[in-house]
Amino acid sequence: MQTSANPKTYRVKSFGCQMNVYDGDRMAELLNEQGIVPAPEGEDADLVVLNTCHIREKAAEKVYSDIGRLKREDGSSPLIAVAGCVAQAEGEEIMARAPAVKMVVGPQAYHRLPEMVRAASAGQRVTDTDMPAETKFDALPRRKRSGPTAFLTVQEGCDKFCTYCVVPYTRGAEVSRPYAALVDEALRLVEAGAREITLLGQNVNAWTGENARGQTVGLEGLARELAAIPELARIRYTTSHPNDMTQALIEAHGEIGKLMPFLHLPVQAGNDRVLKAMNRSHTVESYLAILDSVRAVRPDIALSGDFIVGFPGETDAEFEDTLKLVDAVGYAQCFSFKYSPRPGTPAATMDGQVPAAVMDERLQRLQAALNRDQYAFNTASVGKVCDVLVERKGKHPGQWLGKSPWLQSVHFTGDAQVGQLVRVEITSAGPNSLGAVPLDALVS
Ligand code: SAH
Ligand code: SF4
Ligand code: F3S
Repeated sequence: MQTSANPKTYRVKSFGCQMNVYDGDRMAELLNEQGIVPAPEGEDADLVVLNTCHIREKAAEKVYSDIGRLKREDGSSPLIAVAGCVAQAEGEEIMARAPAVKMVVGPQAYHRLPEMVRAASAGQRVTDTDMPAETKFDALPRRKRSGPTAFLTVQEGCDKFCTYCVVPYTRGAEVSRPYAALVDEALRLVEAGAREITLLGQNVNAWTGENARGQTVGLEGLARELAAIPELARIRYTTSHPNDMTQALIEAHGEIGKLMPFLHLPVQAGNDRVLKAMNRSHTVESYLAILDSVRAVRPDIALSGDFIVGFPGETDAEFEDTLKLVDAVGYAQCFSFKYSPRPGTPAATMDGQVPAAVMDERLQRLQAALNRDQYAFNTASVGKVCDVLVERKGKHPGQWLGKSPWLQSVHFTGDAQVGQLVRVEITSAGPNSLGAVPLDALVS
């Protein structure tokens, strides 16, 4: 048999959003169950899973170059599986163009990876981009390992069809995982060492489920249940859509102490005509009203968002409105992107595609404003006393790295362990992180 048959070691490389990170972890768990082990750092793996993202341009090109790079000096390749959103969108082309790829598996079908690996080991090439009625989650192994922070996918898919976006096509319709399965997975993660859980979904706040008393609840109901797990210290969620930001979820920010004061609520643009063309179905005013109500119940909430510059037809004046919105909100941190036409989406064929140079200039100006606000937010944290959840050792002796409640990176020197909550005073601020000194009390 060739060396690529019956793989002994694997490596999973995830790109894109946190849901892909979650999926990558779950695929790794499936492979572990099959007796395949992670390849040691720096060594070639027998099996490589490229867990891809399709959100912006050159996604497919990147996959082809990654495949090329996996070729070994003797001309052989590991067993390659392409997973994730590029697999879903362009699986057939990948199979046709890249003979080294033996498996193509979509985001809703990866629970079938073990049988695919067996078939591929026997020399077959297999594609599975089904969106089966049965849920992959039932077929996945129980969670056994976790760091201090863990992701938990509670909702998948998107029904919003923003005109620029591929997600509704690559991830399918909105589906909420059942309440009991999520509580169970959270308990396993906490048993395995998680102190913070981030609930994930393409539209995480669209999640609904039936609780143990048979009542239909939203994400706040699930957060409340998880907050009752004693060893779990922190709950976060991402990504939210403004239209699913219910009053009950907003109020939960003032009621659930373990729900961290951080809200990632993408707005994309600061002009109503552009928002309409994007099919965002919220306005600048309705978005700002949500932020006001969250601030009313949780005045220290840190806000985050996503922006797209250069959507087709966006004028200079309309872009200025985005800068005005940024000024009005004062974000703690944000993601911003140049519009990227995605094949098959309505915006890709709209009139008024914006020249690259204009997009570059707009992105630079937007990012300058966002960086300025992030630094201002960090500077305003100096002098605050807060808890840091320790995630890992720092570069210097005795140094530890963790996160503040507002998701800022914090470093301090002192006695601590990974997974502990340490009370600190913030003493310095940089553009991307804070320095702190531990106070004597170790929180837990
Ligand atoms: N479901 C989330 C995020 C999905 S994708 C939401 O609706 O907010 C993450 C971000 O990628 C989006 O918020 C958007 O800012 C960006 N994005 C999506 N499609 C894009 C495209 N075609 N070009 C540039 N950015 C895009
Ligand atoms: Fe994409 Fe819009 Fe759905 Fe977010 S809400 S995933 S941007 S279609
Ligand atoms: Fe990318 Fe798919 Fe996530 S396109 S952003 S990996 S949902």
